[in-house]
Order: sequence, then structure tokens, then C-alpha cells
Amino acid sequence: MSTRDLYVQGPGDALWTVPATGSARFSWEYGDGRERLLALYQKGKDKQWDAATRIDWDLEVDPRNPLGTPDESMALYGTRYWDKLTEQDRGDLRRHYTSWQFSQFLHGEQGAMVCAARIVESVPDLDAKFYSATQTMDEARHAEIYSRFLQDKIGMFYPVNDNLQALLGDTLRDARWDMPYLGMQVLIEGLALAAFGMIRDTTTEPLPRQILTYVMQDEARHVAFGRMALRDYYRQLTDAELREREEFVIEGCYLMRDRLRGLEVLENFGIPRQEAAEITENSEFLHLFRKLLFSRIVPCVKDIGLWGERLQRAYADLGVYELGDSNLDLLMAQDEELAEELDAQRFAAEEAARTAEVAAAIAQGAAAEGAG
Ligand SMILES: [Fe+2]
Ligand SMILES: [Fe+2]
Repeated sequence: MSTRDLYVQGPGDALWTVPATGSARFSWEYGDGRERLLALYQKGKDKQWDAATRIDWDLEVDPRNPLGTPDESMALYGTRYWDKLTEQDRGDLRRHYTSWQFSQFLHGEQGAMVCAARIVESVPDLDAKFYSATQTMDEARHAEIYSRFLQDKIGMFYPVNDNLQALLGDTLRDARWDMPYLGMQVLIEGLALAAFGMIRDTTTEPLPRQILTYVMQDEARHVAFGRMALRDYYRQLTDAELREREEFVIEGCYLMRDRLRGLEVLENFGIPRQEAAEITENSEFLHLFRKLLFSRIVPCVKDIGLWGERLQRAYADLGVYELGDSNLDLLMAQDEELAEELDAQRFAAEEAARTAEVAAAIAQGAAAEGAG
């Protein structure tokens, strides 16, 4: 089924064409892959999974409250607009927000797939090409999952946010092979991961929780890859080259912080853009959200060696400087554990149901025999 009719407003042309520059690279050296990267490649192969079977798509979702969002965490809550909304309108608003948010996840996953494929093409080393090929597949599965969720459970899509699109475009147009890593693996994925984590840890609904938990299990590998590859490469760059990368990070961070907050949704509810901006700016929830949003990026940027003065100042200005010391490895290990625990719980519940069914059948058989 075409999703064109499910877009809340037209996404413009059906195709977005980005003229890419830079070289495709082949390596004839098949024997000297880095052990850590090859181990990650192996893990990428071992941990493939199928959304069609691992996710319980029969779970129902209420489109008017898909995540179980409490009123207080809605940006409009506490404003005069909120008081004017009927219960029906509030349900509509929650549906639009979830659609907007998951649509950005979806478009971002497509971007991640394209960037991962681009890394396969442009990165010089074969071990990184191998690994990135598994990530390309991971991102395809993620895009498949989010689009299914939006189609089947929400029934509504939002077009890609202008600023997310701009960052994706900048990332892809750049000829330097490390830029898809920096723009996609570090910035966009870092933000996405933080947003996924917040929903995973707060939603009361089992289906979105499953989706985010399993997607995050894969993303832990993606972040590890970006860190490994860039840490090695950035060690060889000159100061001037490093400063250029830092500028890109600073600009990207401000852009994402200021522009990725769903004003499109409020505009669709008749609130003028300027006022929508003020409302979200004053939302207490947004302040909390923003800080958390950087929890995955800052330690990663520091870890790969981009920690010049200007960047440190920018992070101090954003109020996220101290996040540089948080333990990224621990966060990633937790993401993987949570997915395994969820599997174990679900498996145990299924097992218990099966055992109960068998026990009931035996009891029934025994009763029938006793009667006969
Ligand atoms: Fe992904
Ligand atoms: Fe990813």
C-alpha cells in the first residue's frame, strides 16, 4: 500500500536526490583486518534478527495515546491552548506527536542506511567495509519496523524535518570519507539513541517498548563502530583538520537542539510558529529532554578526540559539558542487556502459558477418562 495518503501533509517530491561527491575505494588487502573491527563484524552477523517474528505485532496500540504519554509531558500542557482542547483534541495531539517523532526516526533510519552504504563504498579499509555492510542491513530492518509501526498502528506519517534533512544532506555531500561517520554515526545516531532510550524507559505500552529495546540493541554496535573507526583516524589528523570537524559538530548540535522539537505539530493545531517556539522553549519537559538528548553524543565526541577549546565552550554553553565523563560503554552494555532480558521475560511467559495449556489438556483428558 502506498503511504502517500497517510502523510499529514505532502512530503513534496517522492524522491530526494542528493548529489554525492568523493571516491569509491577498493582495497586489495584481504588479510590485515583489525581484530576489534572484525569481532564487531562477526557480532553484527550473529545478532541479526527478523522484525516479522521477534516483535509481537498483534499487540494493540491506541492511536490516540500510542506511548501512554502523561499530560504533563506534553509541550502544550499548562498553556491556554491546552485548556481549550477537548479530550478528543488531546488524543489527536498525542497521535500527531507520536507520528512526528517516529516519522523522524523512520527518515533518520533511512538516512542511516544510505550513510552506512556510503561508508561501505568510500571507507579505505576492508574490515570497515565488511562491518558497515552489516549495519546497512540493520538500518534497513529499523526503517522497516518504524514504517510498519506508523502504517499499522498510528496511520499517519510526517515529512522529514527540514533541519534533519539539511544535516543529512551536508553529511552526504561532503567528499571526506569520515563525514558520514561523524554526521550520521555520531551526531544523528547519538541523538536518536538518546530519544529512543527516553521512550523505551518511560512508555507504558508494550509494543513501542519492544521496538525500541530491540532497535537499541543494534545501535549499541553502531556507536561502537563509529568510535573505533574515528578514534584511529582522528589520531592522524592535523590540528586544523580536527578543528574543522569540531565546527561541524558544534553547528550540528545547536541545530538539532533548537530545531528538532516538533513545531510542525503545533502549527498543524493552529498555533503560530513564533508562539509554538515560545511554548516549547518554556516547557519544563523540553529542558530535561534536551539535556538527556546529549547524553550519548558528548562522551562519544570526547572519546574520539574532538575535545578542543571551542567545542568544550559550546558544550558548557549548552549545559552538557559534564556529560563528557559519563560511561558510554556502560550505557551500551545496558542497552544490550535490556534486550536480552526482554527476550527472556517474553520467552518465560510463553513457556509458562504453554505449560499451563498442556497441564489443562492432561487434566481434561484425565477427567474424561475418569468419567468414561
Ligand atoms: Fe538504526
Ligand atoms: Fe544505527
